[in-house]
Amino acid sequence: METKEIHEKEVEVFKQRTRKSREIFESNKLLVPYGVHSNYRLIDPYPLFVKRAQGSKIWDVDGNSYLDFNMGFGALVTGHAHPVLVEEMSKALAEGTLYGFETEEAFKLAKLITERFGLDMVRFSTTGLEATMHAIRIARAFTSREKILKFEGCYHGSHDSVLVSVKPTLDKAGDQKLPNQVPASKGVPESVVSNTLVAPFNDLQSTENILRKNSGKVAAVILEPIPMNMGFVLPEHGFLEGLRKLCDEEGCVLIFDEVKTSGKFYRGAAGKFNVKPDLMVLGKAIAGGHPLSVIGGKREIMENIVPGKLAHAGTFNSNPLSVKAGLITLSKILTQEAYSYLEKLGDELGKGYSDILNDSRIPAVVNWMGLSGAVSFGIRSVKNWRDFLNTNVGAWWTYYISMLNRGVIPCGTGPDEQWTMKVY
Ligand SMILES: Cc1ncc(COP(=O)(O)O)c(C=O)c1O
Repeated sequence: METKEIHEKEVEVFKQRTRKSREIFESNKLLVPYGVHSNYRLIDPYPLFVKRAQGSKIWDVDGNSYLDFNMGFGALVTGHAHPVLVEEMSKALAEGTLYGFETEEAFKLAKLITERFGLDMVRFSTTGLEATMHAIRIARAFTSREKILKFEGCYHGSHDSVLVSVKPTLDKAGDQKLPNQVPASKGVPESVVSNTLVAPFNDLQSTENILRKNSGKVAAVILEPIPMNMGFVLPEHGFLEGLRKLCDEEGCVLIFDEVKTSGKFYRGAAGKFNVKPDLMVLGKAIAGGHPLSVIGGKREIMENIVPGKLAHAGTFNSNPLSVKAGLITLSKILTQEAYSYLEKLGDELGKGYSDILNDSRIPAVVNWMGLSGAVSFGIRSVKNWRDFLNTNVGAWWTYYISMLNRGVIPCGTGPDEQWTMKVY
């Protein structure tokens, strides 16, 4: 059978299994643009509507159960409703959800995070978006420069400065070694786009050329040390170290966006690859599915956050629930032992995928490290966005919907996403 035929057949099965999801989706669309509260959740023909989740399982409104490897787009390395979190958070609820004051618990969490991730100082926010936005502003204030450099295909949240060349199409992307600065959304001012330079990931020479050409103007180089918004791309040997050196030479702040990776390795990707950024942004899994993000790094940079001079604020920052969840998650659940075990499980899954694809002679590449990885169809290697553009997106969606029909959510919703395994 042709892939197209298989796809159509699987979509029909999906529609039969998920009638209630479709019904709610149709009503929801009348009130909510495209029926979803985050664009990345939309899938064809419509997204699943979920009723509940526990451990590694999730149940939709039609009563189907799924083994969940999406895990809240990587925010649930604890798994759903971890029993320790359920017990502790239920008690915490009764003690108040928001004080508008600081707490001793937040100090304890700051201590734990600075020690674990090797940071001098931290500030808490709630989402990854906010944290990368603040990190960039801090870097701009620290250097008195306006431009930033990001990498083609990297995602840092939905704010203007980084909504540039997130998923540019080939016709707009320009020269591979000197990529165009392509707005990723309507509504992003041209003046903002022009301040965001774009470089190819894993190409140190091209990055150096762009930085040298803009010498003295670039406040920060921001990157996902393991890009996880174009499948799963590993940094080539020497790339992160090379960026570290370049930033030192050019006086730029090196920002590791570890919103995804901070929960995927015990000390984040910085610890895994032993490269120290100037600023680091943590998020997603660090608070077991509760909204907590962190901007942290060198004292001389962080100290520039001064009331009335350099803004950082938020009503829900360091709220007692997120702080409690962060403390429990990092001290009791996402332990070094848990990661060691997950690394072995991750290897089994990655090798299993590779073996099946090889045996079936399906052209694809499987990249993984630790508890996370991705299958990219139709290509043999992926080291940057231009490689990713050659993936067989149609084959990926057929695989995805076929897995749903067999009770497995294999990863996040899209070929640019990856699987996340939960602790045991
Ligand atoms: C690397 C990275 N940075 C930042 C963000 C934005 O985080 P949030 O969705 O919590 O705003 C994401 C979200 O997926 C991400 O993957």
